[in-house]
This record gives sequence, C-alpha cells and structure tokens, in this order.
Amino acid sequence: MADEVSFERDIAPLFKLYRAGMLWSMDLAKYEDVKAHAKPIFARIRSGNMPPPPYPSLTPEQVELFATWMRQDFPA
Ligand code: HEM
Repeated sequence: MADEVSFERDIAPLFKLYRAGMLWSMDLAKYEDVKAHAKPIFARIRSGNMPPPPYPSLTPEQVELFATWMRQDFPA
C-alpha cells in the first residue's frame, strides 16, 4: 500500500505560492477549504487551468499526489 499522504506535509506546500491569488474564494493553506473544494481543484490542476499563466502547471507527479490524497479520504 502506498504511504499515507498528509495534507500538512505534502499537499499544502503544493499551493503555498498560489494562496494569495485564490483567497477571494478559498484558502489553499486550510485543510477544510481544500477538502471542501477538492473536486474542482483536482479538475483544474489536472487540466492545467490552475494555476493560471504565466505560472507553470503542477507536474503530473504533483497532480497524482493530490489524487492519492483524495482516494485516501483526505488525511490531515
Ligand atoms: C494551484 C493553485 C490554484 C488552484 C488549485 C486554483 C483553483 C481554483 C478553483 C477551484 C477555482 C474555481 C473557484 C470558484 O469558482 O470559486 C479557481 C478560479 C479562479 N482562480 Fe484559481 N487556483 C489556483 C491558483 C490561482 C492563482 C495563482 C490565481 C491568480 C493569480 C488564480 C486566479 C483565479 C481566478 C481569477 C479564478 C476565477 C476565474 C475562473 O474560474 O477561471 N488562481 N481557481
């Protein structure tokens, strides 16, 4: 079994640079917000729609890490 993904250790750092750009809608540093919006967040990081240009998209490995975190039922 894959190791358990941790929000604080693995997921929050992915979004650290982008937090300010999204505070109007949600706090990407906050567990409850990211969990509540996980589906739209996943759709947009997977499609490359977020973060918007000129920011580089998350890597396929980072997108997969987020998917694993969802599958594991959002460990804190
Ligand atoms: C990995 C980082 C990011 C994620 C996961 C993310 C996620 C999302 C999500 C889920 C929405 C839809 C929210 C809603 O409708 O309430 C959204 C919309 C939006 N985001 Fe982000 N975002 C990221 C980075 C950024 C950054 C850095 C900016 C600006 C500098 C930004 C600007 C916007 C804007 C303007 C919208 C509304 C327009 C639209 O729906 O496309 N986002 N984002």
